Order: sequence, then structure tokens, then C-alpha cells
Amino acid sequence: MSAEPAELPVLSPFVFDDGAAYELMMGRWSMLVAQPFLVWLSLPAGLKWLDDGCGDGSFTESLLLHQRPSMVLGVDPSPAQLSYARQRISHARVRFLQGDAQALPLPDASVDAAVMALVLFFVPDPLQGVREMVRVVQCGGTVAAYQWDLDGGGLPLQPILDAVHAEGYQSQAPPSAWSATMAASCSLWRSADMIDVQTRQFGVSRTFDSFDNYWRTAYGSPRLRELFSSLSPIALQRVYERVRLRVGGTSDRPLVLTARANAVSGRKR
Ligand SMILES: C[S@@+](CC[C@H](N)C(=O)[O-])C[C@H]1O[C@@H](n2cnc3c(N)ncnc32)[C@H](O)[C@@H]1O
Repeated sequence: MSAEPAELPVLSPFVFDDGAAYELMMGRWSMLVAQPFLVWLSLPAGLKWLDDGCGDGSFTESLLLHQRPSMVLGVDPSPAQLSYARQRISHARVRFLQGDAQALPLPDASVDAAVMALVLFFVPDPLQGVREMVRVVQCGGTVAAYQWDLDGGGLPLQPILDAVHAEGYQSQAPPSAWSATMAASCSLWRSADMIDVQTRQFGVSRTFDSFDNYWRTAYGSPRLRELFSSLSPIALQRVYERVRLRVGGTSDRPLVLTARANAVSGRKR
């Protein structure tokens, strides 16, 4: 009898497995959006928040900085992200739990506000994820999200993805990329029976010390890291040069890049 091949674990390219690399790649961008997003939500201090898909805790940190919450519960499925978040924020009013947005480990009506920051496009069933946020929020509470404007090229790593595609390589889109437009978010929020549904786009810019500092952030993306490690040095250099020309970067001058996020907010009846 022939032996069965050993089963290898299949890693999803959207499970973030390194909190520190994630922070450089995306956490800092997320905090840039979080500030105007929280101003837009205009909610009072002292609320109990759910940070759904909290990742490495970047939005949790923004809540502590700008909202003076009574409590923040951060939920995320990735042990690596949660471990980074727990080291980053050790605060009596913050708890991090492992869980899935589609089946939140929280009782009904247990928070005042729930937010997904850069998460919905990763959730396989976005409507179920939104319904779960509605379930755990009290009546009248706010449910909101922001996601990169993927269709409009607003992703911070878009210049790198464009170069990858121009060189003929594939890169997998997030499973629910369609949910990132303002129209799709609005429709999801209405389908989850929310009232006062509003959308807004936020543009942000981030300064890198040099082009190389931007380039290195791509290694925080498991899908790009996997692709880059499979390329020959020459092929990788071609992608690098294409990105550098596109963004006009040099190795000795600061580089300013922009990104755009689409936000949606509504209230539970
Ligand atoms: C781009 S990160 C956003 C992290 C953080 N909210 C921020 O603003 O930087 C996306 C996060 O969604 C999490 N995620 C992916 N699928 C999820 C799901 N089904 N339920 C909850 N979180 C999920 C990932 O583990 C990851 O930490």
C-alpha cells in the first residue's frame, strides 16, 4: 500500500501572521484613517466599543487616543495579530479575544458601538459579519466600517500590486473585495436593517523615509511575501524598479504616498 502524502497546512494569504510586519505595512495607514473617521462618527466619550477584526490593535489604539472609551473589546481570528496587540496595549479597559466576525464571541446588545477597520473585504460572508455587529450593539448604537477604496485604486499597496500584474504575475483579491465600494457598503448596512446610513471617503497621506522603506512594507502582506520569495532576484528587481519609477522614489529622499478609504456608518433600530 502506498503511503498517503503528508498533509501540509494551507495558509490563507489573508491571515496576517506577523503583527510587527503588519504594523509597518498597514497598521500605520489604518491609524491615519481612524482619526478623521472617528471625528466623522462624532460619538461621545465613555462608550463600550467592539473593534471587530482588531488585528494588531491599531484601531484600538486610536480609540484609546481619541474616544476615552469605557471599554474596548478587540476580536480577531489571527493568534499572531492578537499576540502583538496584547503586547502593544496593556490597559484595564481593553480585552482581546480570538474569534470570527461571522460568529462573534459576544452576547446580544453588549456594546454601544462596533467598528470594522479594514476588515469587511476579508470576511467571506460580509452581510453575516454586519448582522453580527448589529446583534451585539445596543438599540440606537452605531455600527461602522472603513475599507480601502479597492475599485478606485485607493489601496496603499496598489502601486506594488500594479507592478506585479504588469510583470504578468497573479495576486489573489480579498474574498469580499466587492464590499469595499460605498454603494455596496451602503446596501449591506441597509440589508442589515440599519437606519441613518451614511458614507464618506477619506484620503490620507503617509511619509516614508525613502522608497526602500515603502517597498519593505510589502513584506507584511503574506500574499506579496509569498510571491516575492518565489521570484528570481532578477524578476524581483524588475518589479522593484517598476514600482520605484511609478511612485518616483529614491533611496535617499522621503516619499509621500496617498491612499483612500470608503467608510460607512449606521444605527441599530
Ligand atoms: C487589514 S487587517 C485590519 C486590522 C486592524 N483593524 C487595523 O485597522 O489595522 C484585517 C484583519 O481582519 C482580520 N480578519 C480576517 N478575517 C476575519 C474574520 N472572518 N473575522 C474577523 N477578523 C478577520 C485579520 O486577521 C486581520 O487582522
